[in-house]
Amino acid sequence: MNIHQILTEKFRLALQAIGAPENAPTPLSRSTRPEFGDYQFNGAMALAKQLKQKPRDIAEQIVAAADLSGVADKLEVAGPGFINVHLSQNWLADRLQDAAKDERLAVEPQASQNIVVDYSSPNLAKEMHVGHLRSTIIGDAVVRVLEFMGHKVIRQNHMGDWGTQFGMLLAHLEDKLAEDKLAETALSDLEDFYREAKVRFDEEEGFDDRAREYVVRLQRGDKDCLDLWDKFIDVSIAHSEEVYQTLNVTLSREHIMGESAYNDQLADVVEKLKQQGVAVEDQGAQVVFLNEMTDKEGKPAVYIVQKSGGGYLYSTTDLAAMRYRSFDLDADRILIFTDARQALHFKQTELVGRKAGFIKQQTSYEHCPFGMMLGKDGKPFKTRSGGTVKLVELLDEAVQRATNLINDRDDELSNEVKQEIARKIGIGAVKYSDLNKNRTTDYVFDWDAMLSFDGNTAPYLQYAYTRVKSVFRKAGVEPKQVEAGLILEEKAERALAIKLLQFEEALLQVAGEATPHVLANYLYELASQFMGFYESCPILKSGVTDEVRNSRLMLSRLTAETLSRGLDLLGIETMEKM
Ligand code: ARG
Repeated sequence: MNIHQILTEKFRLALQAIGAPENAPTPLSRSTRPEFGDYQFNGAMALAKQLKQKPRDIAEQIVAAADLSGVADKLEVAGPGFINVHLSQNWLADRLQDAAKDERLAVEPQASQNIVVDYSSPNLAKEMHVGHLRSTIIGDAVVRVLEFMGHKVIRQNHMGDWGTQFGMLLAHLEDKLAEDKLAETALSDLEDFYREAKVRFDEEEGFDDRAREYVVRLQRGDKDCLDLWDKFIDVSIAHSEEVYQTLNVTLSREHIMGESAYNDQLADVVEKLKQQGVAVEDQGAQVVFLNEMTDKEGKPAVYIVQKSGGGYLYSTTDLAAMRYRSFDLDADRILIFTDARQALHFKQTELVGRKAGFIKQQTSYEHCPFGMMLGKDGKPFKTRSGGTVKLVELLDEAVQRATNLINDRDDELSNEVKQEIARKIGIGAVKYSDLNKNRTTDYVFDWDAMLSFDGNTAPYLQYAYTRVKSVFRKAGVEPKQVEAGLILEEKAERALAIKLLQFEEALLQVAGEATPHVLANYLYELASQFMGFYESCPILKSGVTDEVRNSRLMLSRLTAETLSRGLDLLGIETMEKM
């Protein structure tokens, strides 16, 4: 159920009826003030210009031609030719009844597409860092929404599990195992392990040669070497899985399709590029000159697919991945979540891939960039000593801080319950403070702001949810048991009703643009509308008639269901009490 869609269609028909050109635009927006109605159609002005008539006259004609009987009570022309739409109370009430009867809250699934989503994708040589946190959280929210909207989502965790740095890591690991250490112990801290290996590589006689030899053996597919590599990535994957579990994201081992998976396709990728004349030799390397992208002097950008020594690159793997996703996985869309600094890489990869036919014409290739997470000083988020912040520690701190908040209150909840609540608040706060911002901008990671119970935060939304649930506890009924007619006489009731019915609009936008903040902001507005309604419209007070009380319980029930569904789609848990 999508009010926007329904009204747009009605106005499209009206435009047709008054003889407007086929492609006349149908701009419709939400009214900014109640006196302007609920929605506003702004198609008269542009059309009047085109037809060289007065906008208000055109608006009058549209109003006369529009058939909104049953949907709107009133259409009025305002200002230079806006058309204000006042939706009918009965129609709104009926639509809410439909939502109440439906598990999906009357959100219609879209025509199903195959959508490949590449997200999280950490480098296994090191600990996951905050950049991967953003990719993981945002990607997972988008995945959940796409699935809910009826799409077949194929998760691809494009882990960085290959490359020359594994040479030194494996050589170092071999020595540790020779000391009788278990791989798990040796690799318990990947950052330390990496640092140690790097020091040896830079300083120890002969170690660098051994490391290089390991790279060659690895590429040759040497059995012992691969076994060692397996051990390494296995432990490293386990570290990532721990983070995924704590974060409540839907990724598991089966979704891993790391860089190594494309090894045996890289030679063919370069071969095909050469055959088609897309790639040419340049100083011993295989490169693609991109005439579409030139620098200031008009020189084409250079996209390297094979180094002069024969080695392949990140880009070669991404071309192989593109081909696999478009042809083998039959993707309609490919979404890739990485930080914005990789934007150029993906733009060029798409250009090269399309030239070479590595992607079907109809497959859309969408790099979904995100900005940086900054510290309070406005600089990239780091530990006090300037190191990378370990995600596990960051998430532990979140739960610890939430625990302190909860413990400050004295109430009758058991310790166990409090622990569980603190976990949901802490993790929810970290996720939500990332998800509620337009992903393309940098943002400041701020503990106090994200854990506040006021404002656009996870704790606020979780609290709003418990507030609704407490109404039902006081009323002594289960939300699902409430079935009643809806009365939307009060301003706050009507506003809440319309907000509830805009859920699908928000979800469609998230699915189309991969922007979870649209859903976050919707939920925040919904929670705020509910709080307003709760203040001004008594539910259980004496003097409220049964009819009104039940109608208000219905609105509360729908609010609870929409909030919990919406938060779940963002990957954020709710609780009954807090
Ligand atoms: N491992 C990469 C990084 O940490 C991200 C990979 C993203 N996906 C891709 N197909 N390149 O930067």
